[in-house]
Amino acid sequence: MCGIISAVSCRDVTSMLIDGLSRLEYRGYDSCGIAIYGKKNLRRVRSMKRVYDLSKQIIEHNLYGSIGLAHTRWATHGMPSTYNAHPHFSSLDSGKPRIALVHNGIIENYDELRVELQESGYLFESQTDTEVLVHLINHNYDGDILRTVQKVTKLLTGTYAIAVFCADEPYRIIGSCKGAPLVLGLGDGENFLASDVLAMAGRANEVIYLEDGDIVDIESNNFLIVDSDNSLAHRKRYPKSSFIGIVELGTYRHYMQKEIFEQPRAVADTLQEVNIVSENIFGIDAEEIFRNIDSVLIIACGTSYYAGMTAKYWIESIAKIRVSVEIASEYRYRDSVVNPKSLVLVISQSGETSDTLSALKHSMSLGMNYNMAICNSQTSAIVRECKLCYLTRAGIEIGVASTKAFTTQLTVLFLLSITLAKNRSILSRDNEMLFLKALRHLPAALSSVLDLEPLVVKWANHFANKENALFLGRGMHYPIALEGALKMKEISYIHAEAYPAGELKHGPLALVTDNMPVVVVAPKDILLEKLKSNMQEVQARGGKLYVFADADSKINDDSINLIRMPEHYGMLSPILHTIPLQLLAYHTACIRGTDVDKPRNLAKSVTVE
Ligand code: G6P
Repeated sequence: MCGIISAVSCRDVTSMLIDGLSRLEYRGYDSCGIAIYGKKNLRRVRSMKRVYDLSKQIIEHNLYGSIGLAHTRWATHGMPSTYNAHPHFSSLDSGKPRIALVHNGIIENYDELRVELQESGYLFESQTDTEVLVHLINHNYDGDILRTVQKVTKLLTGTYAIAVFCADEPYRIIGSCKGAPLVLGLGDGENFLASDVLAMAGRANEVIYLEDGDIVDIESNNFLIVDSDNSLAHRKRYPKSSFIGIVELGTYRHYMQKEIFEQPRAVADTLQEVNIVSENIFGIDAEEIFRNIDSVLIIACGTSYYAGMTAKYWIESIAKIRVSVEIASEYRYRDSVVNPKSLVLVISQSGETSDTLSALKHSMSLGMNYNMAICNSQTSAIVRECKLCYLTRAGIEIGVASTKAFTTQLTVLFLLSITLAKNRSILSRDNEMLFLKALRHLPAALSSVLDLEPLVVKWANHFANKENALFLGRGMHYPIALEGALKMKEISYIHAEAYPAGELKHGPLALVTDNMPVVVVAPKDILLEKLKSNMQEVQARGGKLYVFADADSKINDDSINLIRMPEHYGMLSPILHTIPLQLLAYHTACIRGTDVDKPRNLAKSVTVE
């Protein structure tokens, strides 16, 4: 995914485009660029560094004007490099640039189009599919850029959101989209096109969400939209007061619900660049660092801590490396045994959590200098401090109770486990293929688990009038039970506790009565028979069981509330079992009428100690 922001105005647009770009960086940041038409010239600056570098270049090159396009790239076709960065240009025979274009998406028939254009004499400077598009528009340009884009988009297969500028008509920008988002923003004497409304915050008074196949023509004071049948289209306009909410929420009741349902997309985006198991995806020094370590120390808070707990099971089982998991606020203040050969792995959605950041710095002050972040924010302090990094691409998470950040963290942690195993030469080729296949199937598997929602809603009705609940799991599903209980207490305010089921008899069983719902995460693994005994212990005390089991598990007891997961997920089962627990907490909270997205006393990003 990439980010687009473009503007046509009666005043200079460079600073607005720069601000918009920085807000779009969550969509990719391999490179960025900006093209401006000013003083009768179309010029651009591009950078492999971040947006701040573009700002410097703009000043150096005196790049100002009232119409421009900007882009932040997440590489698909062609490596991250300045020459692959957008905006792309196509020039007249004289060498003067005529067309500028930014693009988000993938043009699938770019190869054949490229050959045709090369035969017509076009020279390509990049490896991108996008450059095909800009030359195609130049090649077909007939004096009207709107008409040309209408013609050219008919020749494309694939997905795109584009913004196009032609120096022969330097007062308009044309946008179009299919399978990728594009939003039209209407301001005072200026109009905008962007991938996300966030990019236009503060400048657009109204927004319009373009539909697939729409083509939009914007000038500083006018706009028109035509649909894929070339008919004038009238789309709903959302006022400033409402558009941020609408863009974030869509048809969902709460951000948390939206974010739960975004998980297949979030996991797919997080894995988008993973074709093989390779250390490089964690950073250029990863291969060497992984070779030198003898253990892993995971540091995190809250939900991210439970992701770390799950990773301990995976890393020790698959990569055979010793793992310890520490709550950041504890680690930073205790006397721990320093091991410079340990990989310090910090997990954080925000990358700004004060306790985690301080714990990371504490480990560095002790001489532990192999470190890595798994984080959802590229620009965060934690990412800046770490040598290695893998960015989850969950997208902005608004709900205070973390959902998609957690499952994307788990996805990366599983990937890390198999990468460490490969680095130690203990991952067989067959297992590598098997694990990669399972990861690729994950988004589809998550979607099928989300289909369980109506069954979970029925359970939520049982939970809504309780004040206590127990969550049980074993092995790598114990941290998932902990996360389920955390979700429940965070947003429904029901007192929920989680235990490894074997511990039940050592204390918590005393709490079990017929007023105590007990949720059991019970996949079909080597611990299932043991878990069944634990369930018997609950039933014998009158406790009500709510069990998530695999489709083919032999659990046939009418007194147990049972939801069967659609398929058996093997090692990835913790990720899938998280979903119904999120849904259970969410629907229970809705029935209880709590403020789901902003639970009392909590905050999304805790930047104080
Ligand atoms: C807060 C949030 C939690 C989150 C925790 C750690 O408590 O409410 O949802 O898990 O911080 O945040 P991080 O950004 O470091 O993952």
